[in-house]
Amino acid sequence: MLITIPDLLSAEHIRQCRQALESADWTDGRATAGHVAVDLKNNRQLALDNPIGRQIGDLITQALRRHPVFQSAALPAHILPPRFNRYEGGEHYGFHIDNAFFRVPGVAPADPAQARPAASQAMHAAAPASCLLRTDISTTVFFSDPDEYDGGELIIQDTYGEQRVKLPAGQAVVYPGTSLHRVTPVTRGVRYGSFFWTQSLVRDDGRRALLLQQDVAIQRLIQSGADADTVSQLTGVYHNLLRLWAEP
Ligand code: NI
Repeated sequence: MLITIPDLLSAEHIRQCRQALESADWTDGRATAGHVAVDLKNNRQLALDNPIGRQIGDLITQALRRHPVFQSAALPAHILPPRFNRYEGGEHYGFHIDNAFFRVPGVAPADPAQARPAASQAMHAAAPASCLLRTDISTTVFFSDPDEYDGGELIIQDTYGEQRVKLPAGQAVVYPGTSLHRVTPVTRGVRYGSFFWTQSLVRDDGRRALLLQQDVAIQRLIQSGADADTVSQLTGVYHNLLRLWAEP
């Protein structure tokens, strides 16, 4: 299931983000590529702890948490911190499937020195809090308008063939993390984007698609003034399917 979110960020937010991204300190994207992807990946990224990336990442995450279409389609359990890339001068990223898991730093206790005896302090220093999250869903947010660059299309292979995605700045595409995808060479201008993953309550894309279809149908029935008991029954089925398929 591939969906686009046309109204994720406001025009003012897009303008502020672009300004910040243009002045940011970009590094070679190959630094974070796995041993297979390193030969395919040719772009620049923001370091994971870059404050500009963190700030814009928070803005994106908050917008997604408020967005009814994303909530309904993705059923997010955890949204991983957004990352940022920049392509220009023929840079591209060949066909690949993203890693299944990423380790994300967690929140450490406020003051472990006060709460823990010396032995466990040492353990804590050796293994900082972090968690392993599954990349069920991929999202790309575009920060350049299509007329600002040539190439730079996100090509996604799904059940129905190849999808070519190139959206206006501030819009997002959401697609299964299991998809083979690539970014074609940017031959003019600069393409700024954000990409990240979501661990869903429902890991299977087909099941998520069924739940979304049912959710949309229920909303339409409510809007059309359908019989309340029938709507309530269908809503119950939705929640029972979710209970059956959801994982923590
Ligand atoms: Ni990728």
